[in-house]
Amino acid sequence: MTIRIAVFGAGRIGAVHARNAAALPGVEVARLVDPGTDATALAREIGAQVGTAAGTLADAELDGIIIASPTDSHAELLLAAAERGLAVFCEKPVSLDFPTVVRVTQAVEAAGIPCMIGFQRRYDPNFRAVRERIASGVSGPLEQLLMQTRDPAPPPRAYVARSGGMLRDQAIHDFDQARYMLGEEIASVHAVGGALFDEGIAAEDDIDSLMVVMVSASGRMVQMANNRRSPLGYDQRLEAHCAREVLFVENRPATDIRIAGPEGARTAPPMDYFISRFAEAYRAEMAAFAALIREGTPPLATIRDGLEAQRLAEAARVSIRTGRPVALTPGWMP
Ligand SMILES: NC(=O)c1ccc[n+]([C@@H]2O[C@H](COP(=O)([O-])OP(=O)(O)OC[C@H]3O[C@@H](n4cnc5c(N)ncnc54)[C@H](O)[C@@H]3O)[C@@H](O)[C@H]2O)c1
Repeated sequence: MTIRIAVFGAGRIGAVHARNAAALPGVEVARLVDPGTDATALAREIGAQVGTAAGTLADAELDGIIIASPTDSHAELLLAAAERGLAVFCEKPVSLDFPTVVRVTQAVEAAGIPCMIGFQRRYDPNFRAVRERIASGVSGPLEQLLMQTRDPAPPPRAYVARSGGMLRDQAIHDFDQARYMLGEEIASVHAVGGALFDEGIAAEDDIDSLMVVMVSASGRMVQMANNRRSPLGYDQRLEAHCAREVLFVENRPATDIRIAGPEGARTAPPMDYFISRFAEAYRAEMAAFAALIREGTPPLATIRDGLEAQRLAEAARVSIRTGRPVALTPGWMP
């Protein structure tokens, strides 16, 4: 059976998802919707039609949609998909407004549509192998989880203005990884953050530097360090300190070449950014979306995971503002 899907948003990540989906056997990207840019070249490349949102959502032959448009359009599209009974792959975050995230999650769950959220690190072979090794019990209990996420350079100010801030836009991946690796909920969040170097980010009342300490429901510990720039390029690492062994996910070098001379040796810098670093994960996400539609295979990241990761981002915002740790009771709202 061929699955017919539509992609909303043909920008940075939408183009990646559209190409990956179109390359899968038995998947047809039938429509590409992007009112803000000329998507005809991409549509031609993958054999899709450029469509309007209304015309696409009314297409009775459609099995699912990929939402890769700007964050402020996700909630409306998710609700439309829930109403129509379409499967959805939605990029993070669901909305910049947390009560809307809760409302849309409830609507999607009540409709029972197949739905997954774009936490691609869960599909990265390395992060996934660490998670599976911890879950197998071989490593012993995970006691302390340390993560670094540093972008090579700050995003443009226009992006910052619509992003919802570093916590909801970038650090949300680490909040998700904390829950994924621990396999349980977080009970408290203590964050410090500030704009240490980027005036544009400061002018948007956002932060460029962040540190977070969290404690899980059973008392295990998480530490995050996030930054909007890094002198070494895209710096994205993890250390899982378990009772019997320590698991490291290191940066992946752009090449395996080591250059040696009289002054010592150099290795290649890390892969330049998330599009190259997570190329395999993005491909695996689309294969998982097809399997979700075709066989009902549960995805690694549900809309509930999107909600819970964002709850942690919201708690971190409150913690930064008040200078105090935030205790998370079930259903905590900012
Ligand atoms: N998981 C990840 O690794 C990852 C990476 C990047 C972006 N994202 C998320 O993906 C989303 C898009 O980010 P991006 O960096 O690709 O942005 P982008 O600005 O590069 O692309 C967004 C595209 O959507 C189009 N668009 C605007 N309104 C639309 C609408 N109503 N319907 C359809 N298309 C519309 C724009 O014209 C643009 O081409 C954001 O929510 C972002 O948080 C996730």
